[in-house]
Amino acid sequence: MTELRAVRFSRYGGPEVLHYEPVDDAPTPEGRLRVRVEAAGLNVYDTKRRSGVAGGVRFPAGNGSDFTGVVEEVGDGVAGWAPGDSVLGHANFRAQSDVVRVPAADVVRRPPGMAVEVAGALDLSARTAADLVRAAGIGPGDVVLVSAAAGGVGVVTAQLARIAGAVVLGTAGEANARFLESLGVLPVPYGPGLGERVRRLAPSAVTAVLDLHGRETLEAGVELGVDARRILTIADREAADELGVSGLPQQPPDPAALVRAVELVAAGDLVLPVDSVFPVADVAAAYRHFEGRHLRGKVVLRL
Ligand SMILES: NC(=O)c1ccc[n+]([C@@H]2O[C@H](COP(=O)([O-])OP(=O)(O)OC[C@H]3O[C@@H](n4cnc5c(N)ncnc54)[C@H](OP(=O)(O)O)[C@@H]3O)[C@@H](O)[C@H]2O)c1
Repeated sequence: MTELRAVRFSRYGGPEVLHYEPVDDAPTPEGRLRVRVEAAGLNVYDTKRRSGVAGGVRFPAGNGSDFTGVVEEVGDGVAGWAPGDSVLGHANFRAQSDVVRVPAADVVRRPPGMAVEVAGALDLSARTAADLVRAAGIGPGDVVLVSAAAGGVGVVTAQLARIAGAVVLGTAGEANARFLESLGVLPVPYGPGLGERVRRLAPSAVTAVLDLHGRETLEAGVELGVDARRILTIADREAADELGVSGLPQQPPDPAALVRAVELVAAGDLVLPVDSVFPVADVAAAYRHFEGRHLRGKVVLRL
């Protein structure tokens, strides 16, 4: 039997506490699939767990949530899957591992031809973006401001809002402006004076704000007179409370959101850019790059 490894950390800290280290193997439990992981994405929440901000971590702790791979074994009681099937999905806080054992409900089929790096990073971004667009009720006639629109979640949010029929403005740095244009998103530089820049660029009044970076975008939304119930943030709850706008409201999960995103990607209608790919052994370097926060899409580990 070959040795299995996984990314783990045994104390809170910076990226240097992450190690790709040997772990014990275990039988595949009933109701689960054993999947050989090929790629796994990085998310902001990983950094909150690892640094101790999120709290409640038991050591040694696994890391990462999105992954893609190939089914190696099907546990008792699981129908519809066979060894050799390609899947993508989530294994919360243990995805960056040679092997994961996941409930079949946590994965969907990976279409042939979908890049492994894209598939390995799609799950959380797709589900979060879909939740935001659904919670705000984005549709035709809307003019939506999305912040950090070239980032891992923002780039999907901006495109799903556009696909829902809205005109979308997205904040980004200069290096990402052209890229957003190529996705049909009007780029707006973030920074002081945001509200005024958006007012000048928007074809008509902004009707919703989906924030993925924080206070500045929420303040711009208030300044632009957007209905406070349609200014949503997943980045700065404190500023939202202070400004009387909304976090992401509790809503039942949409089990079809990931399947829909996979179909859109496969059809070429949704783009998830891969900012960079690191071998799993370089996991600390991957997070150092990720935590610089000037990205185009997702950072991905190859296993
Ligand atoms: N369910 C949830 O609540 C949930 C789930 C997932 C994520 N989140 C949150 O969503 C947020 C975004 O996550 P993510 O994974 O998309 O992050 P990310 O990929 O790290 O975001 C990177 C983007 O942030 C942009 N950025 C950097 N400085 C900025 C500034 N001052 N103003 C506006 N944008 C700026 C960068 O733009 P340039 O490169 O163009 O400079 C880059 O494209 C995080 O706060 C995360 O915690 C919440």
